[in-house]
Amino acid sequence: MADRRPVRRRSPREAEPPGMSPRRAALRLMDAILRRGDPLDVAMHAAAQGLTGPDRAFAIAIASEALRWMVDIDALIDGATAQILPDDVKSRAVLRIALAQLLVLKSPGHAVVSTALPLVDGGPRRLVHAILSRAQTEEWQLPDRATLPLATAERWAEQWGLAMVEAAEAGWSAPPPIDLSFAVEPDPREWPEAVSLAPRQRRLPRGQAVESLPGYGEGGWWVQDLAASLPARLLGTGEGRTVLDLCAAPGGKTMQLAAAGWKIIAVDASTKRLERLGANMARTGLSAEIVQGDIRSWEPVAPVDAILLDAPCSATGIFRRHPDVLHRIEPRQIDEMASLQAALLARAANWVKPGGVLVYATCSLERAEGEEQISAFLKANPSWSVEAPRAGELPAAIVPDRDGFIRTLPGLLAEEGGLDGFFVARLRAPSG
Ligand SMILES: C[S@@+](CC[C@H](N)C(=O)[O-])C[C@H]1O[C@@H](n2cnc3c(N)ncnc32)[C@H](O)[C@@H]1O
Repeated sequence: MADRRPVRRRSPREAEPPGMSPRRAALRLMDAILRRGDPLDVAMHAAAQGLTGPDRAFAIAIASEALRWMVDIDALIDGATAQILPDDVKSRAVLRIALAQLLVLKSPGHAVVSTALPLVDGGPRRLVHAILSRAQTEEWQLPDRATLPLATAERWAEQWGLAMVEAAEAGWSAPPPIDLSFAVEPDPREWPEAVSLAPRQRRLPRGQAVESLPGYGEGGWWVQDLAASLPARLLGTGEGRTVLDLCAAPGGKTMQLAAAGWKIIAVDASTKRLERLGANMARTGLSAEIVQGDIRSWEPVAPVDAILLDAPCSATGIFRRHPDVLHRIEPRQIDEMASLQAALLARAANWVKPGGVLVYATCSLERAEGEEQISAFLKANPSWSVEAPRAGELPAAIVPDRDGFIRTLPGLLAEEGGLDGFFVARLRAPSG
């Protein structure tokens, strides 16, 4: 008699080699960033859903390195085949993440090939296999410096010159070191492996898990690039005076201001980001009044002593730790951000007491979001003035330009591991 037990069909996934989940997630991440224009941290929530711990970290590392080296990886792919693979075709995407594993993350070749082929999904598997085999037998290498996307390189060369583009490529070629900001100056015997570039700051070599660093639970420090700490440094100590921290979340600068003795009203439009700000303040035991509001319509009940406007921007200055940015941002978005910044700045300027101070900052390497923004503001508000940093207020290597603005460009403090690209201006209101 025939065996009538139901035949259990194997799903295609069951036959898959181990390690597919982080690679699939990396592919989804790349798609969300390059096709939909989502930022990496937004794309991560959907693409890496269900992944935890090392798998999640591996997915993010694959996508990040594929984006950082994408121009050079594409050149290798194009040099290896006469067949033109369109930019958005699956096989190119698979090759990008596979070559990032092979050439940057140094994953074993057999694991890279066996996990790449199932991802091609009816595409040219033989071609993908042939290119990955060649990469190994010919021992392909990436150049010393990761090439910037052409549009960015052209835009930055026009604004800052070729030397800046070269410095940006050097800075982009590896994830940056980890900078910590401290509420109070740490004991010099703590953090023996760290370098101090400014008061209440320590720089650690890259690649460490932040949660495992000593004192994370106690909340005496937070992660913040040295450049991002400059705007709050320009406000000095608060001595109980009130500062409006506009566009405050997730709160790196709020924590600095609280530690410096300011009474803070921290405003941000994003409820989700304000939750992170609240968690950061709780972890560090610092306090601020937290307000959800859109600065285009919200306003304070009374003028304040000082304002920090850390305006939303293209974020092209943080390209070293967010390699998605330079593949997503186009001139149209820079223009839109510049218009929004002008509107926020115009409103914020009404809320400073006579003789008070307003610090404007963006993590952008676009003049339209920095120098040009403040020049236009000063033209429209000639009674306001720029107050350049005084000696000792900032690390000695960070000097104002001839207009009194702070501009951190790639190449600055390069030997020490570089800085994010920031623009900061301290503006003084007329005294009445
Ligand atoms: C550069 S981030 C701020 C970073 C923050 N200052 C820090 O140090 O952690 C810009 C912030 O602006 C907020 N934002 C954007 N448009 C806004 C608006 N119209 N009103 C209030 N907040 C806004 C965003 O939600 C985002 O949190």
